[in-house]
Amino acid sequence: MLIKKRRPSDVLPSEITPESIYRDRRRFLKTSALAAAGTILAPEFVTAKPMEALESLEGLADSPFSTDETLTGYEEVTTYNNFYEFGTGKEDPASLAPGRLEHRPWTITVSGEAENTGEFAIDDFLSGLTLEERIYRLRCVEAWSMVIPWAGVSLASVIQRAAPTSKAKYVRFDTLYDPNVMPAQAARGFSFLASIDWPYREGLRIDEAVHPLSFLATGLYGKEMPSQNGAPIRLVVPWKYGFKSIKSVVRIHFQEIEPECTWNLMQPQEYGFYANVNPNVDHPRWSQARERRIGEFFKRDTLMFNGYEEEVAHLYAGMDLAKYY
Ligand code: MTE
Repeated sequence: MLIKKRRPSDVLPSEITPESIYRDRRRFLKTSALAAAGTILAPEFVTAKPMEALESLEGLADSPFSTDETLTGYEEVTTYNNFYEFGTGKEDPASLAPGRLEHRPWTITVSGEAENTGEFAIDDFLSGLTLEERIYRLRCVEAWSMVIPWAGVSLASVIQRAAPTSKAKYVRFDTLYDPNVMPAQAARGFSFLASIDWPYREGLRIDEAVHPLSFLATGLYGKEMPSQNGAPIRLVVPWKYGFKSIKSVVRIHFQEIEPECTWNLMQPQEYGFYANVNPNVDHPRWSQARERRIGEFFKRDTLMFNGYEEEVAHLYAGMDLAKYY
């Protein structure tokens, strides 16, 4: 496939691609690129589908990190969400976030222990970076999972550009704070949502952050990121429970000490800083040994580090994973 550089924010919104033909289209693009290069001849196939429909996928570079497992349906990915700023119901984000959460203008502040700090309009922030597709498993701490084709940029490329100093041992990420946009941030009284210390914050150790799997997603299914999935830009760390994959990021802050993270602050006995997917360490209130893949009937075994053990286990060598959960 021809890989051309394009602005990562250029994931074009066009018609929704059903998951059943999404992979076929990606395969078709590669096939037609090869055919165009004279490597193979498949003229009927090349003319069989309209090119305009394929254009939005053209600039996405493939990744060796992508899984070939069955994709979770676009409908499920975009209507079964956790985005507490819009409520605790799984369907709340899809019904409340679109139309409220504006994707542009969007400013990302890079701050703390880095050479290149400042405020950046998102398109400047992303310009020049390679837009890739990463098909990752997402395992929620609530014991359900999905397979999602993300589009975006490697977090390492962003961090490299920020040029952290030697004091930067950790990276913190903040979600937008705007109670006019996010109703739960305006919650008052004794409700659960009012007890959250907004904005939602998350963090990684710097070596986790620069790991090649760590990703900043600006889209999914070859389209611009839907609001409910964390538009315009969200973190995706596939070997950790989904709550680490913070949505709608406005700040990336480099610091020397371990950052305070929303769920860890709320319930430290239940949600640790590391939050690595681990079938051998149960949540105090439920088992983490198995999970329900959305769209499947039978539960499946949860894999160590969500199936990314080979890639990331070395980051935790010598650490007691029952203690650093
Ligand atoms: N980010 C913010 N800002 N607020 C949230 O409530 N929920 C987290 C994570 N990122 C959350 C968030 C949780 S618990 C999960 S499982 C994933 O987002 C869900 O991502 P998805 O809705 O795109 O599947």
